[in-house]
Amino acid sequence: MAGRSVRRVRFRTLRDLEAAARRSVRPDVWGYIAGGAGDERTIRANADAFAQWRLRPDPRAEIGSVDLRTKLLGLEVSAPFFVAPMAYQRTIHPGGERATAAAAASLGLLGIYSTLSSASLEAIARSAGAGPRWFQLYLQPDRARSLELVRRAERAGYAAIVVTIDAPVLGFRDRQALSGFALRRWPAVGNGPGVSSPPRGPVWEGGPYRLERRQASAWADIAAVGRATSLPLVIKGVLTAEAARHAVRAGAKAVLVSNHGGRQLDLASPALEALPAIVDAVGRRTEVYLDGGVRRGSDALVALALGARAVGLGRPVLWALACGGRPGVVRYLRLFGTELANSMLLAGRPSLASIDRSLLAPAPGGPGAAADAAAGRR
Ligand SMILES: Cc1cc2nc3c(=O)[nH]c(=O)nc-3n(C[C@H](O)[C@H](O)[C@H](O)COP(=O)(O)O)c2cc1C
Repeated sequence: MAGRSVRRVRFRTLRDLEAAARRSVRPDVWGYIAGGAGDERTIRANADAFAQWRLRPDPRAEIGSVDLRTKLLGLEVSAPFFVAPMAYQRTIHPGGERATAAAAASLGLLGIYSTLSSASLEAIARSAGAGPRWFQLYLQPDRARSLELVRRAERAGYAAIVVTIDAPVLGFRDRQALSGFALRRWPAVGNGPGVSSPPRGPVWEGGPYRLERRQASAWADIAAVGRATSLPLVIKGVLTAEAARHAVRAGAKAVLVSNHGGRQLDLASPALEALPAIVDAVGRRTEVYLDGGVRRGSDALVALALGARAVGLGRPVLWALACGGRPGVVRYLRLFGTELANSMLLAGRPSLASIDRSLLAPAPGGPGAAADAAAGRR
């Protein structure tokens, strides 16, 4: 296991962190963390989408402090960012999800934990203590098994069920395949041997291409989960206004705009680019979050200005876990929060309520730039 050789790495910047993480884990595990679908064009586009916007600072507001506290579906959190659900974290560090959960909880930050966590959802809940947590559900081939996971999450104090819809089948991940990660067998899943990951595939033996087994992901299955629990439902993996409206009709109280960090469909829309239309379609009554490519505090600021209520952090949390276990994750999350507060101060938007689209202008050639220029707004 990579964890045996884990050293505590002190990092000063985010770039340090990524490089140190790469040195801390086995090459196959790095292929798993870093890799994405196909030519990884969506991974790059996720990050590049933030540079399509310019911040318009107006630092005149009198500022004494910055308050990042907010509520997500009624749950109090210390900041509008959260740990995105990520599977198999013990391959990265022996502390795995339990270290991540303890770190997020100690800072009052929301953590979302995967169906495919290396630890059981009950063990993760114990590590999070009173900390805010949601459970990410991959719908199981058998509806009864999905509902059993939901029941366990309810009993273990998770405050919402996040159903991921962008993985009816796993994406083609070249880098992961070349690095040899889980080629024959997936790592162990803490929630029990009967819990399935999305199928690999499709397979062709003449005739139609088939999945190795049926994967439930129809809206009817999702609505059934929603009816079976009193916990609010969040739909993760929404990239269009149509899907967002479907999610709301299926009972979702929130949607997470995401392309799975570019790991599923190469050339899928960058999450940030998809965000405004989804906010316009459902944002008045439904909370909208975003993940994918959020790296700096100023990235979070752009997403919040476009209407996201919170942003999810993916790979950087795993880099921090690889480098330093729980203290590494604490250090990274603190750094991110400080960066966001710093960006808000510099922008002259000292409260979450003061952040709106007027903070943004499209970069030259960015979204709507031509129309804005024609209207004399730039
Ligand atoms: C190693 C890894 C494992 C992941 N596992 C899951 C998962 O089990 N369930 C899920 O819904 N998303 C999963 N994701 C996607 C993340 O929740 C999130 O959408 C994505 O990482 C955000 O992009 P970013 O890494 O650029 O921040 C995973 C991502 C990574 C990097």
